[in-house]
Amino acid sequence: MHRAHIGTNFTSDGGELTEDALRGLYAYPKHIPGPWIRANFVCSIDGAVSVDGRSGALGTPADKQVYDTLRELADVVVVGAGTVRTEDYGGVRIGPDGRQRRVESGMSDLPPIAVVSARAHLDPHSRLFNDTEVAPIVVTCADADPARVADLTSAGARVVTAGEHEVTSTGLITALDGLGLHRVLCEGGPSLFGRLAGDDAIDELCLTTAPVLAGGTAGRIATSPRAQVTAMAPAHILIDSDGTVLTRWVRLPRP
Ligand SMILES: NC(=O)c1ccc[n+]([C@@H]2O[C@H](COP(=O)([O-])OP(=O)(O)OC[C@H]3O[C@@H](n4cnc5c(N)ncnc54)[C@H](OP(=O)(O)O)[C@@H]3O)[C@@H](O)[C@H]2O)c1
Repeated sequence: MHRAHIGTNFTSDGGELTEDALRGLYAYPKHIPGPWIRANFVCSIDGAVSVDGRSGALGTPADKQVYDTLRELADVVVVGAGTVRTEDYGGVRIGPDGRQRRVESGMSDLPPIAVVSARAHLDPHSRLFNDTEVAPIVVTCADADPARVADLTSAGARVVTAGEHEVTSTGLITALDGLGLHRVLCEGGPSLFGRLAGDDAIDELCLTTAPVLAGGTAGRIATSPRAQVTAMAPAHILIDSDGTVLTRWVRLPRP
C-alpha cells in the first residue's frame, strides 16, 4: 500500500507529491479489456454525502485537486440524472496542459459527460447542453418518453438505450464499451452508484472524507434495494494537512 501525506505542497512520505505523482497514483490499470468502473465520492466524517442537498460544502482543496485529476484521466464521466439536476452539471473543463497530456496519450482532449436517466428527464436548456465543448451522452431506456428523447437529441445529445424500464449495469457497461469508453469515472450519485455496487459492477472507489461533521438527513454514498458485499483492497491513503483523507479502493479479483 502506498501511504502519503498531502500538505499544502503535496508531500509524500515526507517528500514532495508532485502533480505527476498524483496522476500516477490514480492511473487506470494499463491493460483493461473493457470498461473499468471507477467511482468518486466525498462525504463527511459522519457519512453525509451532501449538506442541504448539495455536495459543495464537503469540498476541500485536496478533494478538488483529486477530482480534477480523475477527470483528466477519464474517457467519460458517468453521472446519474439526479446529480446533474441538483448540481446543475455543465461539461468537463480541463486546462491546456491537461488537454495536451490527454491528446499525447491518445485520448480525446475532453471527456464527455454521460448521464443515466430512465425518464430522459433533463432540461435541454440546462448547462449540460449549453455550457460544454463536448456533446453529452444520455443513457436511457426503451420506454423513455420519445418526445423527451427527441428534445435531448435536438439539444445535441447522443442518446443511447441500455435497458427496457431502467438502465441495467450490464446495459450501461455494454453501451460504454460500444462507444470505446473504457476509463470510466462515475461521479454518483448514491442511486446510480448503489445500483452499480449492488450489481457487483464497481471496480474501484475513490473516496474523500472531508474533515467535518455534517449531521442532517443526508444519506450514504450508496443506496440500493439489496445489499451486495464486494471485497476491496486499499491502493493508497492520502492525508492532507487540513485533515482531508483521500482513499483509493480497488476490488479484489473475483474468485
Ligand atoms: N458527495 C458526493 O460525492 C456526491 C456525488 C454525487 C451526488 N451527490 C449528491 O447526491 C444527491 C443526488 O442523489 P441521487 O441518488 O438522486 O442521485 P443520482 O443517482 O445521480 O440520480 C438518481 C436519478 O438518476 C437516474 N438513474 C440512476 N440510476 C439509474 C438506473 N439504473 N437506470 C435509470 N436511471 C437511473 C434516475 O433519473 P430519472 O429520474 O431522470 O429517470 C434517478 O432518478 C444530491 O444531493 C447530490 O448532491 C453527492
